[in-house]
Amino acid sequence: MREVTENICCSEVKVVIGEGSLSKLLDIKDHKIGVIYSKKLNIDNVIKYLSDPYLISIEDGENAKDLSNIMLLVNELFERNFDRSDYIIAVGGGTVTDIAGFVASIYLRGINLVNVPTTFLGMVDAAIGGKNGVNFNNIKNIIGTFYQPTMIISDLTFLETLPTEELKKGLAEVIKYGLTLDKELYDFLSLNKDEVLNKDKLVLEELIYRSTIDKLAVVKEDERETRGIRIVLNFGHTIGHAIEAGSGFKVPHGYAISVGMVCEAKIAEELGYAEEGVVEDVLWLLQLYGLPYDISQIDAPLDLKTALNAIEMDKKHRRNVILMPFPTRIGNWKKVEVPLNVIKGFAEQCLTK
Ligand SMILES: NC(=O)c1ccc[n+]([C@@H]2O[C@H](COP(=O)([O-])OP(=O)(O)OC[C@H]3O[C@@H](n4cnc5c(N)ncnc54)[C@H](O)[C@@H]3O)[C@@H](O)[C@H]2O)c1
Repeated sequence: MREVTENICCSEVKVVIGEGSLSKLLDIKDHKIGVIYSKKLNIDNVIKYLSDPYLISIEDGENAKDLSNIMLLVNELFERNFDRSDYIIAVGGGTVTDIAGFVASIYLRGINLVNVPTTFLGMVDAAIGGKNGVNFNNIKNIIGTFYQPTMIISDLTFLETLPTEELKKGLAEVIKYGLTLDKELYDFLSLNKDEVLNKDKLVLEELIYRSTIDKLAVVKEDERETRGIRIVLNFGHTIGHAIEAGSGFKVPHGYAISVGMVCEAKIAEELGYAEEGVVEDVLWLLQLYGLPYDISQIDAPLDLKTALNAIEMDKKHRRNVILMPFPTRIGNWKKVEVPLNVIKGFAEQCLTK
């Protein structure tokens, strides 16, 4: 079991990673506890550590990230007189931690939040960093807050039931950290493919640990995405979001950003920011893990116009310029301002089947 503690602005965030780490829940005493969890999960392993929790099961998945569900949950807390010293424990994938995190942040302007991610994507990304959000008007995560959990518990036991497809979606984000921030992680991924895909617990623990450290280090420097540092976590996401939007959100996020990372690395190379060979390194690792690296591998039909329009909605877009996090060489990156029409031009090439 490994522990990481980081101070992010005004909050201390503790992360506990490893099999059996759920026992850390015993630290929560003398408060009301509301467990917001995915209906699809058996959470006996969580409940056994809690005294008299109030259980609130919810649907998971993208459709559940809706304001109406947020208000139902707020009402549940209100009716049970939860106060600011009480706790919400979110148990589920990224959709559940996003929903519960948003509720925790707005109820009484913030009550204690503990994230218990149950998907690999949740453990390496969604449960970390304090961003949460719901969708509105067909735009993902457009309503949300920044709110740090006090504790994140990544217990690998949950991964035993996780389908390989879901593991791969999270791997795309781990590869993103390796390509932009962490060459050792890139090398580790290169050397341990079979162990990763066979869900070797120690190897997955190492991936979750390194991803946690990499993401927390970025968030510590730029929690609110105002200093041009947190944008690195968006590598592959400008084109990735375009693919998601152009397919009517039929293409899973992890697959969309895999193709997005290749496109954006190509743009970085064409514009002279990435060293020669970076695109090959990106392609090689994605191929190793069976992730898509070209738009022709995406099954869903893509509406190019919708995809290109989505680039204008990119949150890094300001006055016809987009701030792009470009890989320069493996484990390094640079912030570059690129005119919107240049990105759209490259995107059109990349996304034409
Ligand atoms: N807040 C952030 O910083 C951040 C970062 C990345 C992604 N996200 C959000 O996360 C969401 C995606 O998260 P996700 O991929 O975890 O999706 P998800 O929550 O929909 O979970 C994916 C699937 O896995 C199932 N599942 C969950 N735990 C399981 C387990 N232990 N065993 C078997 N099945 C299990 C779920 O029921 C669901 O069907 C998106 O909405 C995205 O916007 C947020």
